[in-house]
Amino acid sequence: MYTLTNSHGVEVRAMNYGGIIVAIRVPDRKGQLADVVLGHETMEGYIPNPPYLGAIVGRYANRIANGKFTLAGKTYTLPQNDGTNTLHGGVTRTFDKVAWEGEALKGANGVAFSYLSKDGEEGFPGNLKIKVTYTLTESNELVIDYEATTDKVTPINVSQHSYFNLAGEGNGDVLNHEVEINADRFTPVDQKLIPTGELRAVKGTPLDFTTSTRVGARIDDNYDQLTLAHGYDHNFVINRKGAGLTFAARVYEPASGRVLEVSTDQPAIQFYTGNFLDGSVTGKQGHVYKRRYGFCLETQHYPDSPNHPDFPTTILKPGETFKSKTVFEFEAK
Ligand code: GLA
Repeated sequence: MYTLTNSHGVEVRAMNYGGIIVAIRVPDRKGQLADVVLGHETMEGYIPNPPYLGAIVGRYANRIANGKFTLAGKTYTLPQNDGTNTLHGGVTRTFDKVAWEGEALKGANGVAFSYLSKDGEEGFPGNLKIKVTYTLTESNELVIDYEATTDKVTPINVSQHSYFNLAGEGNGDVLNHEVEINADRFTPVDQKLIPTGELRAVKGTPLDFTTSTRVGARIDDNYDQLTLAHGYDHNFVINRKGAGLTFAARVYEPASGRVLEVSTDQPAIQFYTGNFLDGSVTGKQGHVYKRRYGFCLETQHYPDSPNHPDFPTTILKPGETFKSKTVFEFEAK
């Protein structure tokens, strides 16, 4: 377990099992600290961890249809764990369930977790070396850097699966949080939550978060995409003017005044409102995590990209280095 702190009393705890972020303590508008991520007090609590609380997810975050993709003329078969889909990389040795090598950064307030995913692990080709770094800054930013290399051509899509509740974990549902997402389009899904291939405008739909809107305002609207996903569980295409770090989303919790702002260099962000939390997981301090008690903002590529040649590519080749950055910045107002 590694604990990062800064001079404002912000504390981030992360462990090498699953690269899991166990706690993030940040002040509200009165300076009162609360832990704003769902999780467990001990490592044992995360074994198993069906909702992927706090974990790094990969090799392929989100869904791959029918657990199959074809690359360089070869078809690869992955373990299916979400109906016929492969969700978050498979079943057994996925990023959320393995021990990473942890190392405190020298000269920076952070920790690096490294993992070698062997050729053929969970069906994916290539020895994939991956490093994820968490750094806490004096401006209350948690900076997440991903870096990976491979010795065979392979898909990669990696993300961080923290569930936030800015009122404090276990403190009710997130329906009163106000959300802004910098996305004019999203990737609508079919009944298996696989993208249909369409990029649909959010305008005029309950997925329009281009201006800040309460999560609960439209979550149960009679709209095909909300019905299919039982709420928000969608991949938003971030508006961007070029490569590099871009504002992706901002969430404000009115009672505490806490704000979370997400920036990323990734093409998309999955906004998930914990629709599948059902009270079967008891977390920190005996808190029971019920439906919609947390939200995730998972920066990533579009789901099922290996089966959608027209989506931005997720293919990493030998000799290349995959790099990606996401910043979670906390404020209060
Ligand atoms: C992602 C998915 C959700 C759900 C969670 C884990 O956010 O998009 O559908 O599977 O992971 O419960």
